[in-house]
Amino acid sequence: MLTIVPRPRTLRMSPDEEALTLGTTPGIAAAGAARPVAELLAASLRGRGAAPSVVDADDAAVIVLELTGPDGSRGASDDHIADESYTLDITSAAITVSAPERAGLFRGTQTLLQLLPVDLAASAQLPVLHVDDAPRFGYRGVMIDVVRHFFPVADVLKLIDALALLKINVLHLHLTDDQGWRIQIDSWPDLTAVGAAGAVGDAPGGFYTKDDLGRIIAYAAERFITVVPEIDLPGHTNAALHAYPELNADGVAREAYHGIEVGFSSLSASPERAEVTDRFLRDVLGEVAALTPGPWLHVGGDESWSTSAEDYRDLVRRITAAAAATGKRVIGWHEIGSCDDLPAGTVAQYWSYLQPVAPAADQVRAVVAHGGQVIMSPADVAYLDIRYPEDLPTPGGYALGLDWADGPTSFAAAYGWEPTAIVEGLAESDILGVESPLWTETALTIADVEHLAFPRAAALAEVGWSAAGDRDPAEFAERVASLGPGWDATGIRYARLSEVPWRG
Ligand code: ACM
Repeated sequence: MLTIVPRPRTLRMSPDEEALTLGTTPGIAAAGAARPVAELLAASLRGRGAAPSVVDADDAAVIVLELTGPDGSRGASDDHIADESYTLDITSAAITVSAPERAGLFRGTQTLLQLLPVDLAASAQLPVLHVDDAPRFGYRGVMIDVVRHFFPVADVLKLIDALALLKINVLHLHLTDDQGWRIQIDSWPDLTAVGAAGAVGDAPGGFYTKDDLGRIIAYAAERFITVVPEIDLPGHTNAALHAYPELNADGVAREAYHGIEVGFSSLSASPERAEVTDRFLRDVLGEVAALTPGPWLHVGGDESWSTSAEDYRDLVRRITAAAAATGKRVIGWHEIGSCDDLPAGTVAQYWSYLQPVAPAADQVRAVVAHGGQVIMSPADVAYLDIRYPEDLPTPGGYALGLDWADGPTSFAAAYGWEPTAIVEGLAESDILGVESPLWTETALTIADVEHLAFPRAAALAEVGWSAAGDRDPAEFAERVASLGPGWDATGIRYARLSEVPWRG
């Protein structure tokens, strides 16, 4: 059977036609803006033992990458969400990937990589086929919490490669929380000089310099993945309240915090703190927005349980206004829907359950009623930090995953949900997309992250990309099983769940 995850829109096979034999020194023809995509494909083939060469579009080559649209050089930016559609044709003579834009061309090469064996040191047979593909939703994200545990740049780049293969197009970085502040802010240097020390328990802290984050953003952008930075406000701010006493209502710095409880910290809504708090918001959100070419800026808004309802609405109004003033489209967790004064086009990220817990559904509908959209992250099926139903060997030998969101979460549950069926009254067009967050209370290393994320991130990828309906969990598990050798070859420590018929 063919392994394509997520399932493409249409796939036509011609079993009677002679297969294509791909030699060990394939040429990849690409012109102009298609060239960087060809170079990335060549690097992937090299990683599998082949010796490809990228040649000019006019030269003979077994693999051809062609841009068909007038805007072929575009990528996601402030004013443009990339077109990810593509076609892939394999005949007995050639492999052709065509797309209107580079993003689609890259997605098509990921489909091709899934069809190729992981060892290309010998020639490979490919079936004759035609794929015509495009995503259902424009936003298909994975979030990693780099606060509760911190992950160096190289770890994040490795994760990006694994996500790219699944056509994930957003990496949401949860950069600040009670336990630490993980992004350099020049105008408020103590956020990292003081606020980045430590993580959960005894784990080391750390932070990304602007150059570090720039490297992550550039690496992701080459793979047509947009980084969405999150500064969590007004709660989840203990690290900032520890670094800067003047952000506290009483002017006293908070103690550093390295536990895993939530909901105890808040920026101050008091009039005496208005000037400093608004300056903090303007400076921090301005610097973060300036770092990121993507269209979105996430301002958190979840679990501000120590903020009164009135103060919360006041702070969220000021936070989202400061974020919108950077020119970005604002995203917040669904609680921000309790504020009726949000900037135009604000996006609510729903993190309640398949059966919404009040008032989450109303908060989401309020955002939509004001012209906004929704990212669906139902915690009981989309959260990657929830443990699996079975005890499997883990990379570090310690247990991974929490239970809080109606855990455990099986692979079948992660696959078997429909984004439009959760909050009544939402149309397909109200849903910007889907995302799987991975909070890192129990994940100390990138191997731990991989164990929790894979294979469930593949389920999220298919929920976000593939057409609704006719989801067959057994058939999906078969396809996901074929990803195992690729994950093995690239050192991804996925969980070998018994729900998936892994080979070998
Ligand atoms: C969340 O899980 N607190 C968004």
